[in-house]
Amino acid sequence: MRALLTGLGAWGSLWYEKLLLRDDIVLAGAVDLNRNTWKAEASVRFFADAEQAMELVKPDFVLNATPPKMHRLINDLAFDRDIPVLCEKPIAENHEDVLHIASRALKGQKMMIAENYRYAPQARAFKAALGREPVGVIQEIHILFKRRHHIGNYHMSMKHPLLLDVGIHHLDMLRYFAGSEAKRVTAGFHTPPGSWYRGYSNAELLITMQDGLKVTYVGSLDAEANETGWYGQWTFTGENGELCLAPDDREDNAGSDAVLDSFIDYVRNGKMPETHISDNIKTQSIANAALQSFHERKEITLDAD
Ligand SMILES: NC(=O)c1ccc[n+]([C@@H]2O[C@H](COP(=O)([O-])OP(=O)(O)OC[C@H]3O[C@@H](n4cnc5c(N)ncnc54)[C@H](O)[C@@H]3O)[C@@H](O)[C@H]2O)c1
Repeated sequence: MRALLTGLGAWGSLWYEKLLLRDDIVLAGAVDLNRNTWKAEASVRFFADAEQAMELVKPDFVLNATPPKMHRLINDLAFDRDIPVLCEKPIAENHEDVLHIASRALKGQKMMIAENYRYAPQARAFKAALGREPVGVIQEIHILFKRRHHIGNYHMSMKHPLLLDVGIHHLDMLRYFAGSEAKRVTAGFHTPPGSWYRGYSNAELLITMQDGLKVTYVGSLDAEANETGWYGQWTFTGENGELCLAPDDREDNAGSDAVLDSFIDYVRNGKMPETHISDNIKTQSIANAALQSFHERKEITLDAD
């Protein structure tokens, strides 16, 4: 299959290496506005313009690793040409773009969101073991995420860099581990004095799932000590005890191969991927409810479906 990669920044460059290594994929083209990101491979055509690239390369799929604000533009170009899209999380930065992308995709475009955390082997192994553990029914989940993440990219202009660019992974893992959907959300956000960020770099969420499970999420991009891994530190409290999960994240794109496998299977054989847009919109809805809760200073109840 012929791939076109859009975005050759920090994360897009990891995708670039991964795509080159795959036997079942030919990386036919790559796009970045910034020519300094272009690589040396003679086998890949480089472009500054995504529309021109799609016209000339005619890829079998687009892998969109541009910043969240650009997701709509790139996805629309692909949708206009019926090209399947594997798009990085979050679906988009603002909710109007999220709804636009989801509504276009759900009208017949093939689209999956690359939520690699839930596909990481450690997350898979933990989920498989959850039902077998003697702790009984899980009643509470506590998620702690603390990183000193000082990065000078699009994060600096995001109003909610923690929730929308990083916490979105944890909300997606939560749905995966819990096997149920969120029902009610209350949230607070703050930016500590001296923070690297202008937007909200810290968040506290209280989530009640549809089955009554209580979840607390505490996250920070400003941690000066006691950092957790990127996947966070999870405590599951059951009827008979506790389970802890603190996945090793040394290979921070672990899970990306499984994401690609799943996407290729979807495009080739029509097998619905777990993080299809129709599923991932539920992860994004938790984030949106958290923002609404913060603005309206009240608990938000999510739609049941
Ligand atoms: N799954 C993960 O674990 C993970 C980790 C990091 C980033 N990401 C996601 O990957 C995406 C990119 O993140 P990043 O860290 O690589 O960002 P980045 O800022 O390092 O790189 C983004 C690149 O996109 C390019 N770009 C911007 N607009 C463009 C356009 N219209 N056409 C072509 N290129 C354009 C920029 O020039 C830049 O090189 C984001 O959606 C982010 O959330 C995912």
